[in-house]
This record gives sequence, structure tokens and C-alpha cells, in this order.
Amino acid sequence: MFYFFLSLGLIVILFLLYNIVVYYFTRVPHIKSKDSRLEKVFANLDIKKTDNIYELGCGTAEFLFRAEKYQPAKLVGYELSPIICWYAQFKAIRKKSKAKIKGKDFFKVDLSDADVLYLFLVDKVVQSAWQKISLEAKPGTLVIVLNDKIHGVQPEKVFEFPGSGAKISFYRV
Ligand SMILES: C[S@@+](CC[C@H](N)C(=O)[O-])C[C@H]1O[C@@H](n2cnc3c(N)ncnc32)[C@H](O)[C@@H]1O
Repeated sequence: MFYFFLSLGLIVILFLLYNIVVYYFTRVPHIKSKDSRLEKVFANLDIKKTDNIYELGCGTAEFLFRAEKYQPAKLVGYELSPIICWYAQFKAIRKKSKAKIKGKDFFKVDLSDADVLYLFLVDKVVQSAWQKISLEAKPGTLVIVLNDKIHGVQPEKVFEFPGSGAKISFYRV
């Protein structure tokens, strides 16, 4: 029993250390979008079968897996944390999903064919991502941001979650 708890403790400590190392590179902690937030997004989202959908910093890619129900043309997620990325890839295989989960830095990929982008990051990274998106994505591309706002840009829609401080903002390039 002692060795069981010792091993468990070691695994927890190693995982915490792993997350600290990943955070050093990404500056974004891994926190999953709550189901209630995603439900609100999808209740207000009109996905077409021709849409290319990206989740930037996809974590376990819940946004993509939910979006798949609408049979969009393409579903792509980028995730820099290797363990989380492998887990999302494993989930995609298990769900027989066509979502492509890639262990790449989304700042280094081409987003010019995107129709919908989902971001749950931190303020500084959202502003840098917007610099890239606004230069690269097509006019009309929908950018959905959980919690943060894009400074100096008027959102098309904002949904607030009273009492939690959370909000979802829809922007257009
Ligand atoms: C707050 S989590 C959100 C996860 C998921 N999108 C969700 O909403 O449940 C942000 C994720 O973005 C990843 N990330 C941060 N910067 C990244 C980058 N430049 N390229 C790829 N992934 C990144 C982090 O590793 C982290 O897992």
C-alpha cells in the first residue's frame, strides 16, 4: 500500500513538473473549456459543411469534437503540450473523428483557409494570435474567444456568464 501511494505521489509530482515546463514555453496553462461555455458557443454558431475549423491551443480538442457533428470540411487543432496532444490524438482515433490534432505551435502555421477559429488562451497570447489572424485569415473569418477580449476590436456578439466573470466573444476578421 505504501509503495502504491508513493508511486501515485511521484506520478502527480512528475505531471505537475511537466506542466510547469510546458507553461514555460507556452505561457498558457492547460485549462479545459467548461461544457456550459461550449454549449453556449454552439447554440450561437452556424457551421457550414464547407467550413474549415481550427482550435488554436486545442488541449483535448473538445471544441473540435463537438463541431464535428455539423460535418464541416476540415477540423484542425494545434497543441504544444506533447502529453495532452497525444491524448487528444488518441481521443480522435477512439471517436473515429476526422479531426487532425497536430503537435505544432499555431504561430508557425498557415491559417489562411480558416472559416472559424476557437481560442481559449491568456490575454497576451490572444493579442499576439489576433495580430497573426488579422493579417492572414480571410475577411469574414469568425474568431471565437473564451474569456479574453481582443483589444481595440469590436466583437460581433458577447455572451456573459453572470457570477463567474466568464464570457465568450465572437469577432470577425
Ligand atoms: C487554456 S488551454 C485550452 C484548451 C482547449 N482549447 C479548451 O478550450 O479546452 C490552452 C492550451 O493552448 C496550448 N497552447 C498555448 N500556446 C500554444 C501554441 N503557441 N501552439 C499550440 N498550443 C498552444 C496550451 O498548451 C494549452 O493546452
